[in-house]
Amino acid sequence: MQDLAGKHIVLGLTGGVACYKSAELCRLLVKAGAQVQVVMTEAAAQFITPVTMQALSGRPVYLSQWDAREPNNMPHINLSREADAIVLAPASADFIARLVQGRSDELLSLMCLARPIDRVPLLVAPAMNREMWAHPATQRNLRQLDADGARVLGVGTGWQACGETGDGRMLEPAQLLEEIVAQFQPKVLAGQHVVVTAGPTFEALDPIRGITNHSSGKMGFAIARAAREAGAQVTLIAGPVHLETPRGVQRTDVLSAEKMLAAVVDAAQAATVFIATAAVADWRPAEQASQKIKKNGDGQTPVLHFVENPDILAQVARSERARQGTLFCVGFAAESENLVEHARAKRERKGIPLLVGNIGPLTFGQDDNSLLLVDAQGVRELPRAPKLQLARELVAEIAARLPRNRPTP
Ligand code: CTP
Repeated sequence: MQDLAGKHIVLGLTGGVACYKSAELCRLLVKAGAQVQVVMTEAAAQFITPVTMQALSGRPVYLSQWDAREPNNMPHINLSREADAIVLAPASADFIARLVQGRSDELLSLMCLARPIDRVPLLVAPAMNREMWAHPATQRNLRQLDADGARVLGVGTGWQACGETGDGRMLEPAQLLEEIVAQFQPKVLAGQHVVVTAGPTFEALDPIRGITNHSSGKMGFAIARAAREAGAQVTLIAGPVHLETPRGVQRTDVLSAEKMLAAVVDAAQAATVFIATAAVADWRPAEQASQKIKKNGDGQTPVLHFVENPDILAQVARSERARQGTLFCVGFAAESENLVEHARAKRERKGIPLLVGNIGPLTFGQDDNSLLLVDAQGVRELPRAPKLQLARELVAEIAARLPRNRPTP
């Protein structure tokens, strides 16, 4: 997906070992459709050559405010006026301190100061040793940077080039790309708190075995990401899946339907939107053996009894906040045939304003899907597309149906 098509990103590099990751970031930005203009400080050029960054961005790198290639000799003005965003990755502790002071004695800081502050966002990806990161001066500077209107993207934790382990690593290129893409999405869910369930549940038979299904969780994770991109606070309650948590999303992992219900009930208290994408097991074993069920050699197979699991969506939809319209509930239906008919009936049965239908076998584990939106007004199809694109379209559809956004009759 060319999420950054038509966007002009100025990628600023300052001095730090993490410059090696900026090469990959540059490549990802270009792959996502962005035009990338690299600007480097003198210190950055000690860590990675401008030649590498020029080759990857396809444009000559700017290193100095005295660059005579600009006809008016004002690269700080020209570069910042063309930009849709300035991304500083890596941003060193020293460079952050310089930004806080409004210093401008070299091109990159000069350009940050000269940027049209209301139109050109400044995204900052710090990178430094853990002690430098934890130092009160750095933390004070980051708070000030935030107050001055920059977006500080946070840091990773782990092994550092100096041999120490802790906070301060620059975020990975893919994580930075996710943050940059999010910056440009319309904030249609600003101020909302969205709870999403995703993936299968796992109903244990004994400590070794259990019953589950083929849900990959991809659609739910894409929706959680899209909701966060749209400005919502997002809680993702996930069954057992092998997926990365989207940036900025708070995730709770559960196994069984009962655990999922408990987590949802807790999170839903403060939520304004509940989106149930999880493929919750309809039944669980009536008893869970505390030890592994063994063959006893007589060829007899165990007899299993099941009880019905709670219907999480129906239960939340019956809550007072949902009935008052403070909590907007969205359900999913995976059907194998007669999608429209089943989806309509399911929406009524679950008592929810919006139900999203899809044909299960066509979507499980896939990266794309098509969706059918069923509400009181009728049926609307979102044609086949990557799950993230569908998730963004669905988020826009949900936003338009929230009480404050509904057109007045
Ligand atoms: N759901 C839920 N809790 C359950 C079962 C389902 O929250 N115990 C939610 C799913 O997350 C989905 C919706 O309800 O949003 C539809 O689930 P589905 O299993 O397809 O519907 P059922 O009501 O179980 O109907 P059927 O199995 O007959 O198709």
